[in-house]
Amino acid sequence: MQTVIKGTGRFVPPRKLTNHDLARWMETSDQWIRQRTGIEQRYWIAAEGRTGSSDLGLEASRPALEKAGWKAEDLDLIIFATLSPDYFFPGSGCLLQAKLGLKSTPALDIRQQCTGFLYGLATADAYIRSGLARRILLVGAEVHSTGLDVSTRGRDVAVIFGDGAAAVCLEGDDTSEQAGVMAVSLHADGSMAESLMTEAPASCCNPRIDEEMLRQGRHYPYMDGRNIFKMAVRLLPEVAKEVLDKAGLGVRDVDLFIPHQANLRINQAFAKAMDLPPDRVFNNIQRYGNTTAASIPLALDEALEREMIGPGATVMFLGLGSGLTWGAVLYRFQP
Ligand code: UT7
Repeated sequence: MQTVIKGTGRFVPPRKLTNHDLARWMETSDQWIRQRTGIEQRYWIAAEGRTGSSDLGLEASRPALEKAGWKAEDLDLIIFATLSPDYFFPGSGCLLQAKLGLKSTPALDIRQQCTGFLYGLATADAYIRSGLARRILLVGAEVHSTGLDVSTRGRDVAVIFGDGAAAVCLEGDDTSEQAGVMAVSLHADGSMAESLMTEAPASCCNPRIDEEMLRQGRHYPYMDGRNIFKMAVRLLPEVAKEVLDKAGLGVRDVDLFIPHQANLRINQAFAKAMDLPPDRVFNNIQRYGNTTAASIPLALDEALEREMIGPGATVMFLGLGSGLTWGAVLYRFQP
């Protein structure tokens, strides 16, 4: 039994913010952001009203289901990857399930940040191979913008993140021996949890959040950017080789590398370390910023739309982020 992609979809909210827009709130510049990250613009939800990750996830799920030719009722499971759930609990997967008009379809959330799509794909693959589910909707969605410190204090993090969502429909197929999810390598190093985190509200604090914590900005993301950057540059080529070894394939067999979009310079360093020409590594961070759990499926959906990959193509999804977590998944499209 192989896990194959039957449809993909993406959605970003219409409010576009350029680097110049951010420079109105904090001491930064278009030049700094472009040079250090590659980002030119990102999309954030409207400043007014209530839009959660499940709402963005719903908008991304619709085209994915349509391309798969499925109705929501066909789903056996929803897997929702996010670091910015609508509520502290319950998970956004449950909210999405209701928004899709479903009554009892199971739904689970994955809190694996930048590698949420990778962990989600591996989980979906395990459900499908074990026979627990046949049709799964995997969603990565984030609303970062409501949780960023847009003053100069938070500029290193705030300029990076964008809101957005993407979804894939996954199905068990027993006729596609040479296609589907081919190999998975996942890792975590919890000793680095505090290198990239949002601490509060925190169940280990009593109360979970108070005015002093708010004053200190402990409800905003903290990132040791330099350290995370170094880890990514070291571990991404390592995990890419590991997953290739598992599948018995070489770098040459991969048509397109689809990395998490955290920083254009990280992906350029990855290409250099792997001796890859720029056109074999997909990047769209310039237009979306870092959409965390949504970034890999969002990139996949665009790569398919632009016909950069087609039937029979082999792709590698890979990423590193908060946790610390990192990993790679090799996938081959049906011929
Ligand atoms: O997706 C999750 C995983 N996350 C990542 O993979 C992120 C990895 N890290 C990065 O992408 C980079 O570390 C950043 C883009 C976050 C920062 O770039 P950097 O080249 O590592 O800059 P830095 O943190 O070393 O800061 C350099 C300077 C500092 O000023 P001083 O101390 O040299 O005077 C910062 O205060 O740049 C300053 N700075 C800024 N200046 C203008 C930091 N943020 C900004 C900003 N605008 N937005």
